[in-house]
Amino acid sequence: MIATQNLTLRFGKRALFEDVNIKFTPGNCYGLIGANGAGKSTFLKILSGEIDASSGEVTKTPGERMAVLKQNHYEFDDYEVIKTVIMGHSRLFEVMEQKDALYAKPDFSEEDGMLVAELEGEFAELNGWDAESEAAGLLTGLGIPNEMHDKKMAELEGNMKLRVLLAQALFGNPHILLLDEPTNHLDLDSINWLENFLADFRGTVIVVSHDRHFLNQVCTHIADIDFGKIQLYVGNYDFWYESSQLLCSCNATPTRKKKKRLKIWSSLFAALVLTPLNLSRLRHGRNYSIRSPLTILSPLTANIPMLLSRPIEKQAKTS
Ligand SMILES: Nc1ncnc2c1ncn2[C@@H]1O[C@H](COP(=O)(O)OP(=O)(O)OP(=O)(O)O)[C@@H](O)[C@H]1O
Ligand SMILES: [Mg+2]
Repeated sequence: MIATQNLTLRFGKRALFEDVNIKFTPGNCYGLIGANGAGKSTFLKILSGEIDASSGEVTKTPGERMAVLKQNHYEFDDYEVIKTVIMGHSRLFEVMEQKDALYAKPDFSEEDGMLVAELEGEFAELNGWDAESEAAGLLTGLGIPNEMHDKKMAELEGNMKLRVLLAQALFGNPHILLLDEPTNHLDLDSINWLENFLADFRGTVIVVSHDRHFLNQVCTHIADIDFGKIQLYVGNYDFWYESSQLLCSCNATPTRKKKKRLKIWSSLFAALVLTPLNLSRLRHGRNYSIRSPLTILSPLTANIPMLLSRPIEKQAKTS
């Protein structure tokens, strides 16, 4: 779980975020949407600790590991592709490096032997024996063929580097995954692969994307940044978009039409539960309960005043 408490960020006099209180919980995939320049990338940077908020705080469940899709394409130029992916789990990589350095020592002492034994224990606990095959599987899924896995990152073209950095973020089953525009430079096969990966992912995902189809496939929630606030909605992108429009039109709906309105809501709800992500979760026996349309509507209806006060074209910004 990762959350913010009264988070505010100012650049000079301008407040990009003001008193944002939001909680992201495991098992959910949050699509972070908003107009260009609304602050999506900046919000992810605050969550990851890359930049500090002006006030307020970010908290996460102790011991949880967070992985971030790195944006600096040159950061790993000196490393081999497969190593770059494993570096996504910094502690595991550290243990591997320390072990290798100790084994390479010409004057290997008894003390070194004890240290290596400890490191071997931690290596096994962190699933180190499977690290290379997991990294290779991620790379292959993202369209990087085997013959490239041992090349240096500097030898790869820009779009291939981005895929490696994505594999790095996904590596080692992190608890919290922050992805800013992960589908950029991916072909359709890789996007499908990523959608399936996220469908099986059990941690918390917060993803920024302008790809509406992708958001529809993977999101259980939409977090909308607007006017310095972040509003959370249940459902994928289309569910959010259509329900926003419907709620706007409901403004003029007389009370006697309430039943009809709920019927439309119910069909929207049906569309929500049938997203591939939710189906996959059900298939994998996850703790994901199908609630009645009325209960799932309550968090949405709680937002009616806010939705009704905003023009429709504002809400359609990522379409
Ligand atoms: N270090 C900074 N100093 C001043 N202003 C900044 C700084 N970093 C970002 N901004 C401003 O904050 C706003 C939000 O930027 P950000 O990149 O987070 O937006 P975004 O929602 O990710 O946009 P896009 O959809 O184009 O990626 C922009 O107006 C940007 O110019
Ligand atoms: Mg951005």
